[in-house]
Order: sequence, then C-alpha cells, then structure tokens
Amino acid sequence: MDTFVNLISNISWWLWIIIVLVIIAIRDIIQKKHTISHNFPIVGHFRYMLEKIGPELRQYLVANNREELPFNRIERGWIYASAKKENNYEGFGTDRDIYAHQHIFINNAMMPYKVEDNHPHASDKTFLPCAKVIGAYNKRRKPYRPGSVINVSAMSFGSLSAKAVESLNKGVKIAGAYHNTGEGGLSPYHSYGGDVVFHFGTGYFGVRAADGGFSMEKMVQLVENNPFIRAIEVKLSQGAKPGKGGVLPGAKITPQIAEIRGVEVGKDVLSPPNHKAFSNVPELVDFIEAIADKTGLPVGIKAAIGKLEQWEELADIMVKTGKGPDFITVDGGEGGTGAAPPSFADHVSLPWVYGFGDLYKLFQSKELSERIVFIGSGKLGFPAKAAMAFAMGADCINVAREAMMSIGCIQAQVCHTNTCPSGVATQNKWLQNGIDPTLKSERLAQYFKTFRKEFIEITHAAGYEHPCQFKMTDIEVNVDDHNLSKELNNTYGYEKTVVPFNGIQNLKDCQYLGGKA
Ligand SMILES: Cc1cc2nc3c(=O)[nH]c(=O)nc-3n(C[C@H](O)[C@H](O)[C@H](O)COP(=O)(O)O)c2cc1C
Repeated sequence: MDTFVNLISNISWWLWIIIVLVIIAIRDIIQKKHTISHNFPIVGHFRYMLEKIGPELRQYLVANNREELPFNRIERGWIYASAKKENNYEGFGTDRDIYAHQHIFINNAMMPYKVEDNHPHASDKTFLPCAKVIGAYNKRRKPYRPGSVINVSAMSFGSLSAKAVESLNKGVKIAGAYHNTGEGGLSPYHSYGGDVVFHFGTGYFGVRAADGGFSMEKMVQLVENNPFIRAIEVKLSQGAKPGKGGVLPGAKITPQIAEIRGVEVGKDVLSPPNHKAFSNVPELVDFIEAIADKTGLPVGIKAAIGKLEQWEELADIMVKTGKGPDFITVDGGEGGTGAAPPSFADHVSLPWVYGFGDLYKLFQSKELSERIVFIGSGKLGFPAKAAMAFAMGADCINVAREAMMSIGCIQAQVCHTNTCPSGVATQNKWLQNGIDPTLKSERLAQYFKTFRKEFIEITHAAGYEHPCQFKMTDIEVNVDDHNLSKELNNTYGYEKTVVPFNGIQNLKDCQYLGGKA
C-alpha cells in the first residue's frame, strides 16, 4: 500500500495532465453519442465549448453596434441608459445607414409646436396619456383611459420571475402606465398598485373552470376583488406563435405557479390553440359582450394578423350590432415569447407594419376605426417606431422585451430554459435574488418616462401636441413596401394542384403509414 501511495505522490503535475487527457481521449473514442469527439478526441471538445459561448462572444466582441437581433447593441444601450437616467445621447451624428431598407424618417415642421407656460408639458415633460377612452363607444360601466401611451405588454408570472413581475408592477405604478398580466393569471406580484389589464388565453389561467374551460363566476370574482384591474384582454394569438397555444416548460412550474394556474408542479403546461368558450366570430362577440356586461370593464382582443376573412366578419358584425371589442391589440410577427418553435416565431403571421396596416384599413373601410382603441406591440418600444405606429393608427404601445431590458434582461435568449442569467425570466431562486424590485421598478418607470419625453419632443418637432395627430404623410420609410411583396403564386407563376386530404385521422389509419416501429 505504502509503495502505491509513494508512486502516486511521485507523479509530477505534468504527468497527471497527460493521464487525464489520455482518459478523456479513450472515453471520447469509446463513446458514440458525439461523432466529432469520437473522430477528433480531446480537440473535438473545443468545438462544443466555442459553440456554447459563441452567442456571448459575438454579442460582446464581434457583432457591430447595429447588427444583432432581436435588439441590437444601440437599441439595448438606449433602453439601459434611459432606464438609469444616464446620458442616452449619441455624439458625432448617426452611425446608421439612413438609406437602408425600412429606415424611418419623421417629417419635421418648419417651426416646432410651442409649449406655452400653462401647458401640462411645461411642468411635466413626460405626461402622455392615451387620446382615446377604452370602452367609451360601447358605454361600458367602467371605461378606462390609459395614463400612458406606453405600457407593459402581456408576460405571465411563470414565464417571468416573481421579482421581475413585482418590479414591473411597481414600475408602472410610478410611471402611471398599465401592466398586462399575460396568460398566467393574476398573481400577488401584480398587486402592488399599478393599473392592470387582465389577460387570458386558451388555458384560462386564473379564471379556469374545473373542466379547463372559462369560468364567468371566477372572472367576476377576480374583478370585484381586485379593483386595479382596468380592462380585460382575450388572447386569440400572439405574433411569435399564432395558432400554437402557449407553452410553459415544466422546469418553470413551481408550487406557487401551479396553484395560481391550477396545474401540476414540474409538468409542461400547454394551452391549446383553440378557445373552449367560443368557436366562431359571432360567439366571440357574444363572449366579449358577456364579460363586459358582467364585469363592467372594457374588453379587447389580442391577435397576430394573417388572413383577413374572419376579421372582416367581425367588422361586419360590429357594424350590424353596434357591439364588439373595445380595443384590439395587434402583435407583430417579430414579437417575443417565453417559448416558441422557430418555425412559428420566424414565419407565421405578418410583421407589425403589414399586419396592422391591413387590419386598420379593413376597420377603417367599415367606419369602425374611431370606436376601437388600437394597441400595437412588436419591437415598438422606441420613440421613432412609436411615431410611425401612431401615424398608422395605433393609440397605445405595449412593450414586452424592452420592459424586460429596462429591469436588467441582457437578451441572453434563454427564457425557455429557466436559466435566465439576469433573473428576469426564470423561477430559479438564486438567479432571481440579484433583482432588487425597488431599484428595478424605478428603472422601468424611468425608461417609460424618458421614452414619453422623447416621443413628445419628436411630436413637437413635427408641429403637433400629441402623437395621435401624426398622419401617414408625416412619416416616410425606405421601402420595399407591402405592395411590392407578392404572394408565392404571383412570384413563381403557378398555383399548386390541390392535395386530396380527408383529415389527420385518415392518415393515421392508413395501412401504409410508416414510423410506427
Ligand atoms: C417572456 C415573454 C412572455 C410573453 N408572454 C405572453 C403572454 O403570456 N401572452 C401574450 O399574448 N403575449 C406574450 N408575450 C408577447 C408580448 O406580450 C409581446 O406581444 C411581444 O413580445 C411583442 O412585444 P415586444 O417586441 O415589445 O417584446 C410574451 C413575450 C415575452 C418576451
């Protein structure tokens, strides 16, 4: 035994390194899971390591200021600096290629709007409420005018951490904005005094009946118990995954989240693509009216836009009956999510400008645009983008990821893994502990205030008092516009032959079906 111990202790450090490397090499060669490691023992590991840290290397060292997506360094920097009330100016002039595709120009007036001494903007340079009252046309019992044109978009407790939701709620309270709950129900962290828009989707979390459907009784109770709920949003779809329903990974389902949502701890929660409470457009209108009637609150819908037939049906019903949603939130295909398959996030539904333009035109042609409050979301959390959105007909802006960044999100893009390093989109207690809700709520509020201040200044530069006065002619964009994008049949000059299809069950029952082994 002594000889063995002596032998071991006489091995020099460099021989230890060689022994470890030989062991790793043998293990690499024996294993068959990773071909690269097998074919290139030891060296192959560097490839996996570099691949893993590639996004960070690019983000911090390689990518240029305007290169990254969803938000480039300049955009993120502007949000961080605005949230911290630091200098968010640029020196020496723009570093953007202002001739690039989709670049936005705001036509300034020869002389800007003059703020008189007694004007509200003389004392509060950040005061910018919504120009329309939600629920006014439909004479809801509790109409609501948002105190801020920029607000926090739907993001659930579950997808976001408790500390993040608390920071957002306290932040909107300071900024006079509203906080959309997202799909996960109303949590204690939404109850710090900010205005709340209660949002639900096909999972009906927070207003869920025993059979998984919608419970009007719970809805009424919820509104009665929580007077800070100012409006209700029914989610039909969202830009990142229309028609997909929702996914909350099991890793993020803590006992508290399970209780609020009425689901099981640790198991993936899938909200189905379809609503149980209605199955066609007339039923949707009845559903909206029933909720508005029982709660007294304005009720709206959120959707990503693609085909317009059902929207036209909705508009026709609204004209005929005088009923319908008080607001419509249009989410762009570029919108964010806690988790979605890339095939959906990248390809299903139109980008905001196209989707919103199509929808607005349709409602305008039926003379409905005045009675609806239009809310836009999809990377609109920057003053120039907001000016464009208002010129197109938006009345308010909802921001999700921009709000996350203002409270510390670093765009690690791991919301779906429960490992968010900033603690914003994780249920991991250790990671959340880095968030100080008091400080972060001030950051959110400051981002909103700086945003509104710059938005007001741009509005004044264009000769207006409120951004609702922006007209289409006030904004120019370098295009490729929607009229130049063509459907595939026009591009390639043929229509495909219709594939006979009789339902998935028929395919499943087919005797030739493969993949069963
Ligand atoms: C982490 C996260 C969670 C989200 N959860 C919801 C949700 O529960 N319901 C919903 O309709 N949209 C949800 N969204 C979409 C946002 O509300 C918003 O529509 C979209 O991200 C576009 O806004 P943005 O570009 O400002 O992020 C979520 C987005 C993120 C990033």
